[in-house]
Amino acid sequence: MAKYKIAWLPGDGVGVEVMDASKLVLDKLNFDAEYIHGDIGWEYWCKEGDAFPDRTIELLGKVDAALFGAITSKPVKAAANELIPELQNKGLTYRSPIVRMRQTFDLYTCLRPCKAYQGNPLNYKEGIDIVIFRENTEGMYSGVEFNPVPKELSDLLTSLSKPFGAFKDIPGDEYAISCKINTRKGSERIIRAAFEYAKNFGRKKVTVVHKANVVRATDGLFLEIAKEVAKDFPGIKMDDANIDAMTMWILKDPFNYDVVVAPNLFGDIISDLSAQLVGGLGFACSGNIGNKLAVFEPSHGSAPKYSGLDKVNPIAMILSAKMMLDWLGETEKGTLLEKAVADVINEGKVRTYDMKGINTTTEMAKAIADKI
Ligand code: IPM
Ligand code: MG
Repeated sequence: MAKYKIAWLPGDGVGVEVMDASKLVLDKLNFDAEYIHGDIGWEYWCKEGDAFPDRTIELLGKVDAALFGAITSKPVKAAANELIPELQNKGLTYRSPIVRMRQTFDLYTCLRPCKAYQGNPLNYKEGIDIVIFRENTEGMYSGVEFNPVPKELSDLLTSLSKPFGAFKDIPGDEYAISCKINTRKGSERIIRAAFEYAKNFGRKKVTVVHKANVVRATDGLFLEIAKEVAKDFPGIKMDDANIDAMTMWILKDPFNYDVVVAPNLFGDIISDLSAQLVGGLGFACSGNIGNKLAVFEPSHGSAPKYSGLDKVNPIAMILSAKMMLDWLGETEKGTLLEKAVADVINEGKVRTYDMKGINTTTEMAKAIADKI
């Protein structure tokens, strides 16, 4: 029997190709795993009205970890139009499977390392090394939303909130509400994870991102908890920044940032920005990590226009596989893999189109595997 059971979730478009690329590399490492395919993606939405079917949820309950490629997402109305005729007009609503997966399995840490590998022609500057901890289950992604707004809710808000007075006479179908919900538990555990990481990996500083000057309830709570948690880590410096200022400062001086922790949506934003500093989405690996399960995926989407062309850069996926190895405790293999990636980047002989090269996804994966 294999040592690990890994759910294999290629999803849509280039997700399939980058997953194949990572398989090539994992096999070269002799990673002892049984890969179990899971259905997920756009075709299951169209055919079954669910892009993340129950059987896949069941599978995830039984594995040690999962690798996930990418998924095509469309806005709610466009998605409804693509359902097979039998499923039309059943009131089915499309919700992003990855967001559901994070919430279903309480994968509360979204870990996104952004490292400028030496010699990458796409680096903003050499030497950047920022690790992002994004809260992954709540905040603006709580899914508590109203469009139209029911009368009971507007009546209640009128009685409870003074600023709501500005909206109270607007008809329910003329506005929408998305709730940002941050819990003490949800905030504390992600902030603690960031500090623990800093401590374990010899990092000096944790920067807390928020907008507490305006979004006082939720971001105020996040910042308040961060200050409490920081007291338990006297060796680690803490500073904080408003999300807007943060986007400027990180461009001005990326070397001032070490570990960064942010609520869900701000973490989403800051992780794309930071990914661009180290080569863009082709290098942006990520882990969705809970206490029992972790799912590793590149931050990029399914890129339909490149689908089937064997063209995109598989490094984001391959580095996500490296994160999986580390999380499973296979750190020797993880380190070997990262070194292979770093060497291929630094040598510069094999480069995909994003790096202004001519090599294919498969050629890049083979070049990395050849270094192992
Ligand atoms: C990400 C993506 C997802 C998110 C989308 C695809 C739902 O942007 O993983 O950063 O918003 O979390
Ligand atoms: Mg994102």
